Amino acid sequence: MRGSSAAVLRAVGPGAALDVERVRRDFPILRQHVRGKPLVYLDNAATTQKPQAVIDALVRFYTTENANVHRGVHQLSERATASFERARSTVQRFLGAGEPSEIVFVRGATEGINLVAQSFARLRLAPGDEVLISTLEHHSNIVPWQMVCQQTGARLKVIPVNDRGELVVEELDSLLGNRTRLVSIVHVSNALGTVNPVREIVARAHARGVPVLVDGAQAVSHLPVDVRALDCDFYVFSGHKVFGPTGIGVLYAKRPLLEAMPPYQGGGDMISSVTFERTDYNRIPYRFEAGTPDIAGAIGLAAALDYVTAVGLDRIHAHERNLLDYATSRLASVPGVRLVGAAAERAAIVSFVMDGIHPHDIGTIVDRDGVAIRTGHHCCQPLMHRLGVDATARASFAVYNTAAEVDALAAALEHVREVFA
Ligand SMILES: Cc1ncc(COP(=O)(O)O)c(C=O)c1O
Repeated sequence: MRGSSAAVLRAVGPGAALDVERVRRDFPILRQHVRGKPLVYLDNAATTQKPQAVIDALVRFYTTENANVHRGVHQLSERATASFERARSTVQRFLGAGEPSEIVFVRGATEGINLVAQSFARLRLAPGDEVLISTLEHHSNIVPWQMVCQQTGARLKVIPVNDRGELVVEELDSLLGNRTRLVSIVHVSNALGTVNPVREIVARAHARGVPVLVDGAQAVSHLPVDVRALDCDFYVFSGHKVFGPTGIGVLYAKRPLLEAMPPYQGGGDMISSVTFERTDYNRIPYRFEAGTPDIAGAIGLAAALDYVTAVGLDRIHAHERNLLDYATSRLASVPGVRLVGAAAERAAIVSFVMDGIHPHDIGTIVDRDGVAIRTGHHCCQPLMHRLGVDATARASFAVYNTAAEVDALAAALEHVREVFA
């Protein structure tokens, strides 16, 4: 464990409840004022803020280690390579993967899904085959499948949701047919916070011999994830949503699947030998990492995961559950507010609308009080359509948010009402 992570652990104490004020001190951006008010950052599902440990890791890398990886024989290159590969091992441990070679660094969840669509699914799909997703998906877990369906003549099928925003899992068995080649499902919905029964879905798909990709973009900063316990075949997430840098993300895939997949892109580092006649590809995971990777990003991501691990995902989950319960009842008590989504299992997100007020107006007005929320369709247009709304306002929480910030949002929503009274 790194020094900074050890310091966090000492500050909160093993087994103790989360000391949110201590955690907040680790995030320098939270100290600022916006429009003369203390920043209340409730847009964590879009991206999370960065702890000092991550900022320091980036500065340290560029100050003391910067060099390209895997190619140099000089000292700096060896150090950069060692740090980059250590970062891969950190991700492996964080996800509970069996070995570092099952971890592919990509730009983010979006690129991970596209990689699987093109390098895994495309070769296996024939006209009439099916890819099964759900109504809860982010566009990045819809569009890559539509593209590969267009390329192959396969069809997209969709697991429905009920009015609470939960998957109708009972329909899964009838949707899983003998033409289903892959299931791709979100772990935690970015629009509603619904936590899907991923383990059960994987088990049912596997019973029919169908592999499963899990989109963990909204899960890894809120819940402990163990890919081997889930038994999913692929798992993707983005560094920037788990307190790491932008531009770096992870694709986990079971070794035999990765071994059987052709490269996604060609270029340097993904080869073992090249002639004009033929190229032999590198072993996994390098075969999928063409060109110079985001070295600093991977190192920053590892620092973020070390940070989360030191604070403790169980502790984070418990803190956010309290916050979510409080926010749910507090916001529901604001006259004119209607919550959208009421799944029994939810994480860290409250979506809502207000009578006769467009969500963009809500977002603009609460910003005057220093409160940052997201408004719009949240890249989930089919889900919005199913729920009968064009857009919602969304407050999304992270480890550093407090009940006082929920109160600040509720007070700002009262101001919205006054403006439209
Ligand atoms: C559930 C979900 N999946 C995928 C993505 C795409 O993540 P990125 O844009 O970092 O690739 C997001 C981003 O909001 C998301 O919330």
